Amino acid sequence: MDGVVYQVYPRSFADSNGDGNGDLPGLIDHLDHLAGGPDSLGIDAIWLSPIYPSPMLDGGYDVMDYSAVDPVFGTLADLDRLIEACHQRSIRVILDLVMNHTSHLHPWFVQSRQSTTGPFADFYLWRNPSGWDRDGRPEPPNNWLSWFGGSAWEWEPQRRQFYLHTFLPEQPDVNWRCAALRAEMWAMVQGWLDRGVDGFRLDVFNAFVKAAELPSNPEIAAGGSIPWDGQEHRYDKDQPELHDLLAEFRRIVDARPGTSTVGELFTSGIEAAVAYWAPRHLVFDWILLETAWTAASFRAAIAAREAAWAGRWPTIALSNHDHSRHVSRYLDTLDRHDPATSDAVAKAAATIELTLRGTPFLYYGEEIGARDIVVPRSRARDRAALRMADWWNRDGCRAPMAWTGDAKAGFTTGRPWLPIPPDAASRNVEEQRASGSSVLAHYRRLLALRRGSRPLRTGELALVDVGDPDVLAYLRRANDEATLVVVRFGLGSGEIELPQAAGPWKVVLSSLEPATPTIGSRIEVRPLEAIVLDTVAPLVEPGSSVPDAPTIHG
Ligand code: NOJ
Repeated sequence: MDGVVYQVYPRSFADSNGDGNGDLPGLIDHLDHLAGGPDSLGIDAIWLSPIYPSPMLDGGYDVMDYSAVDPVFGTLADLDRLIEACHQRSIRVILDLVMNHTSHLHPWFVQSRQSTTGPFADFYLWRNPSGWDRDGRPEPPNNWLSWFGGSAWEWEPQRRQFYLHTFLPEQPDVNWRCAALRAEMWAMVQGWLDRGVDGFRLDVFNAFVKAAELPSNPEIAAGGSIPWDGQEHRYDKDQPELHDLLAEFRRIVDARPGTSTVGELFTSGIEAAVAYWAPRHLVFDWILLETAWTAASFRAAIAAREAAWAGRWPTIALSNHDHSRHVSRYLDTLDRHDPATSDAVAKAAATIELTLRGTPFLYYGEEIGARDIVVPRSRARDRAALRMADWWNRDGCRAPMAWTGDAKAGFTTGRPWLPIPPDAASRNVEEQRASGSSVLAHYRRLLALRRGSRPLRTGELALVDVGDPDVLAYLRRANDEATLVVVRFGLGSGEIELPQAAGPWKVVLSSLEPATPTIGSRIEVRPLEAIVLDTVAPLVEPGSSVPDAPTIHG
């Protein structure tokens, strides 16, 4: 998987029918932006956040039917058209699979909640109460917590039992120890592969299997900032049996050449991510996404990643649909919010994202430097975040994509489901396409550079000390080729010494145009500047070899 993946949040990408919600025909109409056209970004795959029928209590991650398309997004025929149109442009299509839980409206749950007998009785995690309180109310089977707050158990009066929900009460966890449930899930996976999709993103996959007896988790005396962190999650995720389950799933996927998957790790550390990894099956870790905008933090994060992922292939993500957009976070650190600084930060961050070792996952809108929007409570859509007292408001990072400078940003002709970004009149695709110095132009140049560079696509990575604490520098090497990346995080300026072990160096790309040339073995690095340099002469270092990276092209 040495290509670049682009995450589409379908409801926010492009609306074709004026109902204010992005949809699949809208996405098809904008594929030129992604790949296969003269001004395309040049990505290799899209990951589609869920498009299945859903009451949308958790942004589509509450699925009512795994084998259909929600009418808000279109029809199965639209999805077929999308897959075909993507394949014509050599774009792979990765579907989001939400298999830890369903919606409470899924027919399996509708039946399961009715009685302790019947074909779907064991499809979910049902348990008797651990006791009854003085008022005759049932007490939950154990102390497990919902990520979205409160107990993970909900009482079902019809069945007179509790069911488990790691997320909202409207998202009951399925029971992977039930053979019939497993068979249904695998048939569904096979169905999508037969339909032509190229892979899957597995939602919170490491929570699929729970300890068989469901023991209470140990409490942590000095917990973190949210209730969830007050427990050691020893029994409600990361169980040893998960490896066998993943092997079953991967056998189905691997039988289809050219497919790959990426697992979303749920609140576990990088060591867990590495342990679940396999060729063609990537796993997100969250180190980069949680790294603050300072050279020292990025240096530490990259060192930790390289140590953990040695010999394996990591992912690279700075933003996604669950977190504040990275440009917004970095601007807060810099305490500057003007458009010029915003663009400079977006370009510098993109340079890191597209030159580190691993598969980059871009989040729609970042290619124009999109920032979070502020959503008033009256227009809030993210039910889950509201339940969490807004500490995790995800509406802000899910704004409609800004295509043009018109009042509705070319996203819709109707009332957009979330507010249009306030800077859309000046920060939009059309405007940035016309400018050689835009954030979009920088992304396109970086993607083209990466595509043509063996060191950037597959090379080893080594951090380099260039003698300035505000400058991050690393070398990518593949056999006799080397590329050097230097990035200044602050608003100062100054010369750095280029590494002598390789070189001489020639600037191939700078985030601040026009680029400044090297002066002997030195180069000036301006405020927030990111520079990519190549060796002019090939490296003479016999014996260096580069392991073949897994590729998204199979
Ligand atoms: C992970 C998804 O990324 C997030 O958006 C969702 O809320 C949870 N899974 C629960 O489905």
